Amino acid sequence: MNAENLFQRSIEDKESFWKDQAQGIDWFQFPSQILSKDENNYTQWFSDGRLNMCYLCIDKHINDGHGEQIAVIYDSPVTEQKKTYTFNQAKEEISKLAGGLVSLGLKKGDTAVIYMPMIPQTLFAMLACARIGVIHNVVFGGFAPHELVVRIDDCKPKALITATAGVEIAKRIPYLPLVEKAIALAQDKVENIIVFNRKLADNQHEMFDGLVDYEELVQQSETADCVSVESTHPLYLLYTSGTTGKPKGITRDTGGYATALKFSMKYIYGVEPGETYWAASDFGWAVGHSFSVYGPLINRNTTVIFEGKPIMTPDAGTFWRIISEYKVSVMFTAPTAIRAIKKEDPNGELVKKYDLSHFKKQFLAGERCDVATLDWFAEHIGIPAIDHWWQTESGWPMLGLMTFNGNYTIKRASAGKQIPGYDIKIFDENGYELDPHHEGYLVIKLPLPPGALLGIWNDHERFQSSYLSQYHGYYFSGDGAIKDEDGYIFITGRVDDVINVAGHRLSTSEMEEIVSSHPDVAECAVVGIDDDLKGQIPFAIVVLKNGSIISEEDVEKDIVKNVREKIGAVACLKNVMTVTRLPKTRSGKILRKLIRTLLDKKDFQIPSTIDDEKIIEEIQQKIIEYRAEKRN
Ligand code: COA
Ligand code: AMP
Repeated sequence: MNAENLFQRSIEDKESFWKDQAQGIDWFQFPSQILSKDENNYTQWFSDGRLNMCYLCIDKHINDGHGEQIAVIYDSPVTEQKKTYTFNQAKEEISKLAGGLVSLGLKKGDTAVIYMPMIPQTLFAMLACARIGVIHNVVFGGFAPHELVVRIDDCKPKALITATAGVEIAKRIPYLPLVEKAIALAQDKVENIIVFNRKLADNQHEMFDGLVDYEELVQQSETADCVSVESTHPLYLLYTSGTTGKPKGITRDTGGYATALKFSMKYIYGVEPGETYWAASDFGWAVGHSFSVYGPLINRNTTVIFEGKPIMTPDAGTFWRIISEYKVSVMFTAPTAIRAIKKEDPNGELVKKYDLSHFKKQFLAGERCDVATLDWFAEHIGIPAIDHWWQTESGWPMLGLMTFNGNYTIKRASAGKQIPGYDIKIFDENGYELDPHHEGYLVIKLPLPPGALLGIWNDHERFQSSYLSQYHGYYFSGDGAIKDEDGYIFITGRVDDVINVAGHRLSTSEMEEIVSSHPDVAECAVVGIDDDLKGQIPFAIVVLKNGSIISEEDVEKDIVKNVREKIGAVACLKNVMTVTRLPKTRSGKILRKLIRTLLDKKDFQIPSTIDDEKIIEEIQQKIIEYRAEKRN
């Protein structure tokens, strides 16, 4: 069957198509009901099926005789450590950690927050939760305590699993002070705080009262078996930025997700069980969940946990070193990582040092990939770099190429074609489908396929208003796009307040809330502007309150610090420009798109609704002055 037939069947005969795919994984009870509705009349897949995700990722392979295959490779140039775990070894630690969680009172349906760096114990913690039906929420280690508090308050975890520190090149990020601050600010007490002590020589910690030592817990506990959960039982919550300051708890099911991941590994990535597959993403992002942990392990691939950066750890050859050392056949990263490497090693000198003969395919996602980066990759690496598009919400690719039979054609700058299950249309404002080559909103006809979000945790109304209310019967992606006559789709960027900074999804509204809370700020706008390395970076423009005496430099310093403290360094807000007024429509709406265009020095049309055209020149003049000052 070719990609086209697979797609047609997935849309025209969806129940039988996905039933066939579900047969690709092991169920404790195979579902008799394939597609049904939940109490909110929203789609659920395989509702009466029962299974366990940890079983699929670990125990099944041992039962099939692959216990001695390496499941996990940990490579940490920042701590000079390398370690491997077979499926047997992983099971030992995961099942004992799961037993430890049970001994602390955790049970199916409880939630646990995991706030940890790129170490194997993070993966073990995720799988230990899955083993006993505890719903995990992994929080990216680069987020500040405030972000942790928001998640703790929303999902009310019974345990928080953390580590003593993260390592950012030469910098240590001590987690315990951050955790201590977060739990002090959280509405409810977190009953159990489990800490993996990394015992880094230069990072010793005072443990505070009431902490449980991860290693002691594992050593002292009995193993726990995999519990059977319903297909629709939430495996995890993953919070992502939306158009308000409050992140959305994307809720993922178990059975649909497992089916979709198995399908992805086989048909999209075209990777065989036993091969090494590496997604160089932090566990805290959707890619980390789907393709550093669950996808490769379900497919019996060896997965790589890399604690480092594409550059400087120790140099821009580190990706190629890993690919060569572990015979990685398929890799997945964000374009920003390749751009960082290209900048450091424009002529690909470091590439030549390594044997990349096992490396078959490079997948890219998370942000738009520029053609210059694709060209650099083609010239120096010489294998296909395949862009594909998805979101935290989908959990697996929605646009891409089906590479399983080698029969695919890349169109540069396109994120590919619609993946089976995703009936994608490009709509205009009024919900009419646009002809090829016209830019519009990317929407997906409901029902979404297995694996896509179940909803937003405890907030069905927000789920409706964020995704389902714009066009009746369609999921609204929040991205703009253009389709061509061959069905290839080109993503043109977000149509809302979400930006992508170095592959990290962030909300400008959330930043605006922090900026406007500064006592001297009357109003502000934060927009994402183009950046050669990170794709986009935020830029704030502020109007100060009348009578305010703070200097422009000081307000900038304060705001940069506040955003770092509240969201984290990953927000990368470095520029705050003070103006006397913001460009607005006659009805008082801030013209953010115009601000962005002016900052990017792009051509623009004066919006017909603008209140006063003279402001454009004012802002342009201010940008010139601000940038000149920054250079000095
Ligand atoms: N914990 C603590 N701090 C973190 C962090 C973490 N896990 N990740 C990043 N930070 C900090 C960095 O140290 C840096 O701090 P600084 O401003 O004090 O120097 C800041 O956040 C910005 O980090 P980042 O945007 O990552 O920039 P960078 O210069 O450190 O690295 C790249 C640039 C391109 C190499 C890096 O962003 C990268 O690899 N991106 C890929 C992202 C990705 O895989 N996304 C998943 C989707 S596919
Ligand atoms: P996240 O939920 O963090 O995965 O971010 C999802 C968003 O990243 C999408 O809505 C897009 O705006 C952007 N994105 C992801 N992949 C691509 C891609 N291949 N090309 C362009 N934008 C992308």
